[in-house]
Amino acid sequence: MNSSVPLLEVNDLVVHFAGSTMGLFNRSDQTVKALNSVSMTIRSGETLGLVGESGSGKSTFGRAILRLGELTSGSVLFDGVEVANGTSGDIAWLRRETAMVFQDPYGALNPRMTVGDAIAEVLTVHNKIPTAKLNERVQELLALVGMDTELASRRPADLSGGQCQRVGIARALAIEPRLIVADECVAALDVSIQGQIINLLIELREKMKLSMIFIAHDLAIVRRLCDRVAVMYLGRIVEEGPTDRVFNAPCHPYTQSLISAIPEIDPDKPLPEQLLGGEPPSPISLPNGCAFHPRCPIAQDKCRDSPVPALRGEDGHLSACIFSSESIFPQPT
Ligand SMILES: Nc1ncnc2c1ncn2[C@@H]1O[C@H](COP(=O)(O)OP(=O)(O)O)[C@@H](O)[C@H]1O
Ligand SMILES: [Mg+2]
Repeated sequence: MNSSVPLLEVNDLVVHFAGSTMGLFNRSDQTVKALNSVSMTIRSGETLGLVGESGSGKSTFGRAILRLGELTSGSVLFDGVEVANGTSGDIAWLRRETAMVFQDPYGALNPRMTVGDAIAEVLTVHNKIPTAKLNERVQELLALVGMDTELASRRPADLSGGQCQRVGIARALAIEPRLIVADECVAALDVSIQGQIINLLIELREKMKLSMIFIAHDLAIVRRLCDRVAVMYLGRIVEEGPTDRVFNAPCHPYTQSLISAIPEIDPDKPLPEQLLGGEPPSPISLPNGCAFHPRCPIAQDKCRDSPVPALRGEDGHLSACIFSSESIFPQPT
């Protein structure tokens, strides 16, 4: 591992899904612009929270950077190696260095396989351990995620959602990855179980020096778990920065609306009448200028016309709003 380069460096990542409808007289472009030039850096040991409404492109980002999904253009450097158009050898290497934990704890497991076999499968595929040691390692991994090792002989249907998610995490850890992408991995669980899984992730992160991208729409969890937060809107990062800065002094109007909607963070602050004025626009026809302008409470004419600059302050706080410049870069008087 080369400690002078970031673990992950993503530059101008674009993912467009092709699609078109053929009418009798017209043919309209239905390209879904899921990611529109996303850049991001993750250092070793860091946990980054990726938040945003459903459909904003979070899962597409997670899949693209792990090369589990297609990418249209851009660069993805993992430990300095370009994997965006890497060789099959590079991709195989990336598979051994990274893992994904999914939202649906049952759906991610083969219903016919015992828990022990599901974990052993990962160890075997990745040649992690001699066959003679396989059982022992499966038991170790179950213990690591806080599960009774007796459960190795059970199938997913015999387990609770929280137990299945622990198995999902054990399978991810079996790879001994340097980066885990956890995609809404607690969203399907009861609140008390969510807390247990988050505590487990915090414990494992420290024990194993993991880097993590934690995709979530629950900001309260992100605030607890993440060093930095990136806020995504229609396939772009609109704000990014250290967790405390983003939660205490959000710059982008979209982040401000999201944060004002979580009562746990500021119980005295009333919820706005209507959070954001309806649904986000379709990623098939993105609005001109700032994509957030149709829903933005402070939008002006120039927000419709001009491309939005990404501004970065000295402390790494970024906001893609022309009005953020004053709060991030105080104007000289
Ligand atoms: N394989 C695909 N083909 C076409 N459109 C897709 C595909 N995957 C995702 N999309 C679209 O891309 C956009 C972003 O989706 P996604 O990354 O799943 O968002 P999120 O995870 O933030 O909810 C959505 O409009 C979604 O419908
Ligand atoms: Mg998603």
